[in-house]
Amino acid sequence: MAKDLTFSCSECGASHTKWSGRCDACSAWNSITEDKPLSSGPKSAKSLGNKRGKELPLTDLATQQAAPARTKAGVDELDRVLGGGLVAASAILVGGDPGIGKSTLLLQAAARFARNGLNVIYITGEESTSQVQMRARRLGLEDSPVKLAAETNLRDILTTLDAQKPDLVIIDSIQTMWSDAVDSAPGSVSQVRTAAHELTTFAKTRGIAVILVGHVTKEGAIAGPRVVEHMVDCVLYFEGERGHQFRILRAVKNRFGPSDEIGVFEMTGKGLAEVKNPSALFLSERAPAPGSVVFAGIEGTRPLLCEIQALVSPAPPGTARRSVVGWDSARLNMILAVLDSRCGISFTGLDVYLNVAGGLRISEPAADLAVAAALVSAREDTTLPETCVILGEISLSGALRPVSQMENRLKEAQKLGFTQAIMPPLAKRSGDPGLETREIRDLATFVSDVFGLSPDA
Ligand code: TYD
Ligand code: MG
Repeated sequence: MAKDLTFSCSECGASHTKWSGRCDACSAWNSITEDKPLSSGPKSAKSLGNKRGKELPLTDLATQQAAPARTKAGVDELDRVLGGGLVAASAILVGGDPGIGKSTLLLQAAARFARNGLNVIYITGEESTSQVQMRARRLGLEDSPVKLAAETNLRDILTTLDAQKPDLVIIDSIQTMWSDAVDSAPGSVSQVRTAAHELTTFAKTRGIAVILVGHVTKEGAIAGPRVVEHMVDCVLYFEGERGHQFRILRAVKNRFGPSDEIGVFEMTGKGLAEVKNPSALFLSERAPAPGSVVFAGIEGTRPLLCEIQALVSPAPPGTARRSVVGWDSARLNMILAVLDSRCGISFTGLDVYLNVAGGLRISEPAADLAVAAALVSAREDTTLPETCVILGEISLSGALRPVSQMENRLKEAQKLGFTQAIMPPLAKRSGDPGLETREIRDLATFVSDVFGLSPDA
């Protein structure tokens, strides 16, 4: 029997059944090589022969290791996202669109950690040292004891780390790093992967914490930091809309703390400032109008109120658009379908625009009812009461499903002066919610009670 040969692309990792000059997956030329067969185990069942390694020390599940040492930056929004501070010898990836403020955030963080006693090295592969110094002056950080270098050669960087023995190294960005172990260009998947692997394993064995910056592009076509995600302990994404001053640092993976946690910042002329009360900020520009609804959300452990806006306008025949910013467009289509088939409210022939105000991005299904309310409010041109929050998940049957952490959400709404919450029935009652609750079982009842629309109207 002929042995099955397999080939894979050294740029993108795609596997192929035959060799060709160009990879169909990433369009790289001359990158496909034959895979070496995996070495099989020893032939004889009795002895390992020359495949013998050293025996591992085994432990049990009960023996406690000491909790990892953490250093706080002293910036709550950052420390919370890290799970309570920076863990010694951990590897962190900070991803985000170019220009969103990653270098600014990390220079500020570097200065904070340095002030709190860590030996910090900041390596930039994108800018010159004088550009970083200029930024430091603008941020008022020129006196902080951060050591700086502009370099992209990984071998020189590792040699420097070996000599300097820092507690924390920041690499800005991983796409510019270049390792002589592979001969593809900086920024290609194999370079990014190799550089990240060499840096993180080196740092871990020396007890150095490492923060890698990675650019993500909207298309995701260029070697994104995605390939690095599984090599690090913690993946943070820095998000926000260019035109808005809000920036959100979101933990999507964290081996040392909760993921889903967010930190909210504001980009000012003097760098990033913490936002202590994001709900107030996200609602500050609100003017009650048809299509505007306040949703009581949760991001990680923290309640966050935000405004959902909808606009509906007649579309020329056959060209109706569905446009969404800050929410899932598949979920919007589902809600439109449920409104149509369960409540008789059709959006056929209408353009629908949905927007989460302030550049926020929400992914909770708990926002379903608020989205439905915004859509119906826009279509009927009615304004909802200004001091009312709406929340609840909608199922395909039109039933409203309870959402998690209800108490936290209602407490936040009450704190910001809201007097009424429209929501699914509470599973269990615990104490006074502090505001009037209107508990509704299904979407058809909701549109008839709140908007006075009976099904088939
Ligand atoms: P930067 O940190 O360079 O982004 P990234 O590293 O993610 O590419 O920041 C880019 C933007 O931030 C730039 O458009 C200027 C703006 N900015 C401020 O508004 N205030 C500041 O204090 C600084 C340093 C930058
Ligand atoms: Mg940068």
